Amino acid sequence: MKTVLHISMKDSHTSLASRQRTHQRKPTWILVLVLLVSMFLVCAYIYPPKNPAACYVLFTSSGCKGLSNWLPPAPAREFTDSEIASRVVIREVLSKPPIESKNPKVAFMFLIPGPLPFEKLWDKFFQGHEGRFSVYVHTSMDKPVHSSRYFINREIQSDKVDWGKISMVDAERRLLGHALKNTDNQHFVLLSESCVPLHDFDYVHSYLINTNISFIDCFEDPGPHGNGRYSNHMLPEVEKKDFRKGSQWFTLKRQHAIVVMADSLYYTKFRDYCKPGMDGRNCYSDEHYLPTFFHMFDPTGIANWSVTHVDWSERKWHPKSYNAHDVTSELLRKIASIDISTHETSDEKRMEEQRGCMWNGIQRPCYLFGRKFMPDAIDNLISLFSNYTSSI
Ligand SMILES: *[C@@H]1O[C@H](CO)[C@@H](O)[C@H](O)[C@H]1NC(C)=O
Ligand SMILES: *[C@@H]1O[C@H](CO)[C@@H](O)[C@H](O)[C@H]1NC(C)=O
Ligand SMILES: *[C@@H]1O[C@H](CO)[C@@H](O)[C@H](O)[C@H]1NC(C)=O
Repeated sequence: MKTVLHISMKDSHTSLASRQRTHQRKPTWILVLVLLVSMFLVCAYIYPPKNPAACYVLFTSSGCKGLSNWLPPAPAREFTDSEIASRVVIREVLSKPPIESKNPKVAFMFLIPGPLPFEKLWDKFFQGHEGRFSVYVHTSMDKPVHSSRYFINREIQSDKVDWGKISMVDAERRLLGHALKNTDNQHFVLLSESCVPLHDFDYVHSYLINTNISFIDCFEDPGPHGNGRYSNHMLPEVEKKDFRKGSQWFTLKRQHAIVVMADSLYYTKFRDYCKPGMDGRNCYSDEHYLPTFFHMFDPTGIANWSVTHVDWSERKWHPKSYNAHDVTSELLRKIASIDISTHETSDEKRMEEQRGCMWNGIQRPCYLFGRKFMPDAIDNLISLFSNYTSSI
């Protein structure tokens, strides 16, 4: 801009005589100049300077800011009204610390079809820690008869849950909604009927309360069980590059639980376009909605692994389940001491990614809970509980 301006100014000051003198050569050098400037601009547009130093070298006196203001804006997608609204709300919630509690509690949210086979074990786990936790139960089929006082009258209003369908996410949100009503609840854990605790209550409480991240499993899987489930119908809000996968068994800090309550735009996208039979493929919202959502809006606020252990090493359709014979002190101690999380892609390459489980900057055991345990393991678990939960 400056160069061009400079020339025209100089032009107006030159005398008529000199203008006439240069008349013959003028079209050629103007043409060359215009050509050079346009090439320069096209280059600058295609390869924008990556850092201010490069910028300085390239554009010397004109400077970076001046030039980028002058160029047409890079082709970025314009957000829709609903995206703008969502982003404003999400940013606002994430930027403010939640209501502080003098007595921070962990909310244990059980998403189960009917009876809870390990209720006695959980009773042992909770005993003596009254006032430091809350229990919420979502039973989608039969109303169970409880044996533990910690579970009596803790059922929330529930609805039918179909495996792999959005009703699973709806139930998760329903549990969060109820648990958020108590402002002492600062961290929210989702558990299934086959989950068992791997550590004692103090360990679990301190692990979850004394950190500022949520334990949401999240990784990029280029294979058929990852990106293969993505549908272009999710555009423009959810792009394939942001699509993530992870186990549904999350823990959420309060801020994140509120953000999930506030979201309807992204939830709706997953409800409508990530479901069994979508575009001839099966997509499961409970494995993609939260990993993708938090990857988009707070990637450094999540751990990327789940604190609920499960063993997929047999590579079957279902993870390994542990029955009475499998359950020994050694097994439970082994699982409870794992401090590396592993993700494997579902393509032919089966790329394995391993990361140390970093908790506030130090490597610690990854898992607080384990699944899938069969109901017949209850007696072993109860008799071993004090042993396997001690000294890790
Ligand atoms: C989780 O992964 C994201 C990248 O997707 C990374 O930015 C973030 O730091 C990771 N979280 C932690 C706690 O390391
Ligand atoms: C968590 O806290 C640490 C310091 O304790 C801070 O460096 C980090 O940015 C915080 N992370 C988030 C997601 O708030
Ligand atoms: C506890 O477990 C350890 C390791 O498996 C074992 O050596 C020990 O005998 C057990 N103690 C009790 C009291 O069962």
